[in-house]
Amino acid sequence: MHCSSFTCADQIGQKGNRRSEGFCGLALAIGMLSLRMPRPVPHFSVKSLKLHERRNVGRPLERFCLPIVTFIGRRCYARQIEQIESKSVLITGCDSGFGFSIAKHLHAKGFTVFAGCLLKDKGDSGVKELESLKSDRMKTVQLNVCNEEEVTRAQEFIRTNLNDPEKGLWGLVNNAGISTFGEVEFTSMETYKEVAEVNLWGTVRVTKAFLPLIRRAKGRVVNISSMLGRMANPARSPYCITKFGVEAFSDCLRYEMHPHGVKVSIVEPGNFIAATSLYSPERIQAIAEKMWHELPEVIRKDYGRKYFDEKIAKMETYCNSGSTDTSAVINDVTHALTSAAPYTRYHPMDYYWWLRMEIMTHMPSAVSDRIYVY
Ligand SMILES: NC(=O)c1ccc[n+]([C@@H]2O[C@H](COP(=O)([O-])OP(=O)(O)OC[C@H]3O[C@@H](n4cnc5c(N)ncnc54)[C@H](OP(=O)(O)O)[C@@H]3O)[C@@H](O)[C@H]2O)c1
Repeated sequence: MHCSSFTCADQIGQKGNRRSEGFCGLALAIGMLSLRMPRPVPHFSVKSLKLHERRNVGRPLERFCLPIVTFIGRRCYARQIEQIESKSVLITGCDSGFGFSIAKHLHAKGFTVFAGCLLKDKGDSGVKELESLKSDRMKTVQLNVCNEEEVTRAQEFIRTNLNDPEKGLWGLVNNAGISTFGEVEFTSMETYKEVAEVNLWGTVRVTKAFLPLIRRAKGRVVNISSMLGRMANPARSPYCITKFGVEAFSDCLRYEMHPHGVKVSIVEPGNFIAATSLYSPERIQAIAEKMWHELPEVIRKDYGRKYFDEKIAKMETYCNSGSTDTSAVINDVTHALTSAAPYTRYHPMDYYWWLRMEIMTHMPSAVSDRIYVY
């Protein structure tokens, strides 16, 4: 986890309130847990617990502790994979942002990189920069993850350009993604489908196309999800549902690929908007104007322009608050591809968002909603 101070102005302003709300939340949680017990703690007799029986103490402890010890050991002391120079990876969405940086970093580590770019055919500046490396190990590929034909063509190109197609493709990084915002009543069905087409169905489409090659290599699939794939946020439903979908898809794939020796990892970045092209002030304004003009009359009238503008301003503040150093994301993707024991989930995010995600995913929602949402 990478920690940096959280700078979003309105959230800093509410820090004091949050702390007292946090204590109330904790007290409430303890209260709720004790309510859930079948009977009050003093009513448990030590005799009835039968502590001398192995199945009551020894076995649960053994089953609980052994995996933890093994898990910590594997996390701390896992080797790096060997022969990186003979391995190839495909990364989607390399025109800019994380994808662009991951492509350059993995190339520098010795991998052969197939960099899938949405705008290769249009000569985008990101593509030109990757090609300017003039390396046999950096190959850009035209790849719109929504286009079945382009995916098939990319698959054929990569298969024929592998050193040994029979040994397959070591890694696939599903990174391509788009984002938008807007409360449910402000968001058109068209927008929901557009975001899902890239983030969710694009990930599924590309993964299915490349799995036969990945299976041959007993390789890795790394899916870039988001902290918003674990916890929802108001005004982010079009994005959240796609990332929750990516999480579910990745979990199912991990279970299915385990017997084949393929490892599936999920990277859940926090807020890095200031560092990538996911949003820009101009893009936010363009989305907002389009959204307002396409709203049904009844919604415009009920909410009013003032409410709408306040929400847009809040979104702009959020976008300016992200971390500008993407190295945590790049390092986590690299670990997922190069460690002999990659993690299931990576959380490159600052401390505020990490704590918030843990509380939102582990506490009863009656508590976590009060701390962070209402
Ligand atoms: N930045 C963050 O704060 C953040 C946080 C959590 C998760 N993420 C996730 O990280 C991933 C990368 O995003 P980013 O922040 O690096 O944003 P980015 O700079 O906008 O990168 C996304 C890349 O995907 C490409 N792309 C868009 N539609 C595509 C399509 N249909 N087919 C292939 N490529 C397509 C974009 O191409 P163009 O540039 O040509 O449009 C761009 O190169 C996304 O999955 C995003 O959801 C980002």
